[in-house]
Amino acid sequence: MTLLQVMAADNPADVRVRTTDDAVIGTELAKHGITFGRWPVVENATAIASDELLAHYTDQVAELNQSGRYQHIDVARIHPDDADPEWPKVAEGARAKFLDEHRHAEDEVRYFAAGRGCFYLHLGQEVLAVVCEGGDLLSVPAGTLHWFDMGSRPDFIAIRFFEEADGWVGDFTGDRISAGFPTLDELLATS
Ligand SMILES: [Fe+2]
Repeated sequence: MTLLQVMAADNPADVRVRTTDDAVIGTELAKHGITFGRWPVVENATAIASDELLAHYTDQVAELNQSGRYQHIDVARIHPDDADPEWPKVAEGARAKFLDEHRHAEDEVRYFAAGRGCFYLHLGQEVLAVVCEGGDLLSVPAGTLHWFDMGSRPDFIAIRFFEEADGWVGDFTGDRISAGFPTLDELLATS
């Protein structure tokens, strides 16, 4: 379930929009110059190797990259592995990397082939939490303040698009704003 929750930046309890309607989500995000789209979901993506997954989405990737600006396209995947005693630590470490507010010098473009993750976009007086799920494409413009929560049980496959090899490197603001906002788990627990 893709979800958009818009909150006041200075008061997360002030929820101004909460919707699971794809069309409304696209319209709201477009107001801020943020691209949101849907690609056809491939069944059982977790069983498909990354290169096969990229091959599956050849047409969509080519259309998105018509200008050739994305020089590096890869697949990031993380799945729970309860048989691995190290998994909780791996999950916590992966999650912590992106939980603080940061920005990038280039657009952050992600296609979620499966699973979910939440982008929090800090746009002026508002924070837009966008829970992306399998089938969702989101492009966060360069310079946009944001953070990302993969939840307490990280589980997703994302195709990532970079202009530079180090495009994922974040410029962290040091602002602790993210600590005051509902986590991915909390957003989904709210009915
Ligand atoms: Fe980021």
